[in-house]
Amino acid sequence: MAVEEIVVGRDPDDMKKYGKKGCIFLGKHIVGKGSDFHLTNPVLMDVLRPHIVLVTGKRGQGKSYSAAIIAEEIMKLPDDIKSNLSCLMIDTMGIFWSMKNPNDNDLLLLNKWGMKPLGFNVKNIVPVGLVDFYDKAGIAYDGTFSIKPSELSAADWALTFNIDIFEPLGILLERTLKKLSGNYSIEDIIDEIEKDSRTDNKDKMALENRFVSAKGWGIFSDKATPIEEFLEPGGTAILDVSLQEWNVRNLMVGILSREVYQARVSARRQEELAVIGGEDVKKVPMTWIIMDEVHNFIPDDGVTAATKDMLTLIKQGRQPGISLVLITQRPNKLHGDAISQSDMVISHRLTAKPDLDALSAVMQTYLLFDIRKSISSLPRLKGAAVVLDDNSERLFNIQVRPRQSWHAGASPVAIKEKSVY
Ligand SMILES: Nc1ncnc2c1ncn2[C@@H]1O[C@H](COP(=O)(O)OP(=O)(O)OP(=O)(O)O)[C@@H](O)[C@H]1O
Ligand SMILES: [Mg+2]
Repeated sequence: MAVEEIVVGRDPDDMKKYGKKGCIFLGKHIVGKGSDFHLTNPVLMDVLRPHIVLVTGKRGQGKSYSAAIIAEEIMKLPDDIKSNLSCLMIDTMGIFWSMKNPNDNDLLLLNKWGMKPLGFNVKNIVPVGLVDFYDKAGIAYDGTFSIKPSELSAADWALTFNIDIFEPLGILLERTLKKLSGNYSIEDIIDEIEKDSRTDNKDKMALENRFVSAKGWGIFSDKATPIEEFLEPGGTAILDVSLQEWNVRNLMVGILSREVYQARVSARRQEELAVIGGEDVKKVPMTWIIMDEVHNFIPDDGVTAATKDMLTLIKQGRQPGISLVLITQRPNKLHGDAISQSDMVISHRLTAKPDLDALSAVMQTYLLFDIRKSISSLPRLKGAAVVLDDNSERLFNIQVRPRQSWHAGASPVAIKEKSVY
C-alpha cells in the first residue's frame, strides 16, 4: 500500500494544480510519544510559493541541520523547478561550507532512510578583505563579497558605528556624506571630514577613527559583488560571516537584503511582462534566504543595520518571491514581525516558557497548550521537531531526515557516538 505523504505549506488550490510537484522531503511523521514512537508517513514542504519558516529549538537540537536540509532539497529538485529558485545561506558559525562534501559518516543512517551521501555544488563566498586569512588557513572558496563605501547611507554607517545620527558625530557624518558623490572611498570620506570647518577636532578625530577601523572590516572595495553572483538559478551561495563582528554582519545582511529585494522586485516586473509578451526573460530567480542566529540581526529590542531591510523582506517579500528560513534558539528575543509573519515553524525541543509563548503568535488560532504538549511529547532525538503549518492550522511531530552532505556543525565529542535510530 502506498504511504500517504503529508504536505505542509501548500494550499488546497495549489495542491489541486500542482499535486506534490515542487515539494521537498523534510522527514517522517513521528507517531507515539517519548521513547515509544515510530516513524511513519513522509512529510513534504512546499517551496513553489514564498514562505517564512521559523526554525527554533534549544542548543544542539538540529536547527542548523534542518535548515541545511531545505537547501539540499531545493538543489535536488527537477531542473524546471530548480532553475526558478536560488538559495542564499548566511553562515554565522562557519558550518555550511561543508555541504560540498558527502556525509559518508552517516552512511548507515542514510541507508535506513533509503538515501545516499551526496556532496552539493554550493558556492562558498567569503568577505573580500579576509581572503589572506582563508588562503593561509588553506580554506577554499569560490567567490568574494564586497561592497562599495558609497553604497552605504548615513544611517547604515551610524548603526554600524553605533552612533546617534542627532549627536555631533552623526551630524558630521551626514554632512560629510552629502558632500561626496560618485564611487568614493573611505579615504575620500576621511579627507572630507578633515576639511569640515564646523566641527571641533575632537569629534573629527573620533569619526575619522571609526572610518579607519572600518577599513579592517574586510568588506570594502571599489567594486561591489553583483547580487546575481549570490542568486544563480538552481544554485546555493553560502556567505561566511563567521569571522566578523556582529555590527559588520548586520551591515552585510542589511545591504544584501536590500539588494535581493530590489533585484527580485525588478525581476518580478520582467516576469510579469514576459507573461504578457510571451518571452522568458527571468534573470534573478525566486530566492530562499537561510539565516542562522537571526535574533541577532533583527532583535525584539533595538535596531541593527539589518533591521530595516530585513523587515522589508519579511513584510513585503512575498510578492517578489522571497522566502526566509529564520533560525533562532530564542524566538522570544526575535523581532515580533518575524514571528507573526512566519507561516511555518519547525520547532525542535524548546523548554523556556517565554520562547514557547512566543510561538503562539504564529498560530493565533492554535492553543498554546497544544504546541507545548506536542513539543514536550517529542522523543529525545536530535532532529525531532514539531512542524506548525499555519496554512492548514495543523501540528505534526516529525523526525527530520539525515543530511546527505556533511554537517560541519556537530558538537565535539570525547567518545565516538553511534546513531540511535
Ligand atoms: N535530523 C537529524 N538527524 C540526525 N542527526 C541530527 C539531526 N539533526 C541534528 N542532528 C545531530 O545534532 C547535532 C546538532 O545539530 P545542529 O548543529 O543543527 O544544532 P543547532 O540546533 O543548530 O545547535 P546550536 O543552537 O548550537 O547552533 C548535529 O551535529 C547532528 O549530529
Ligand atoms: Mg546551529
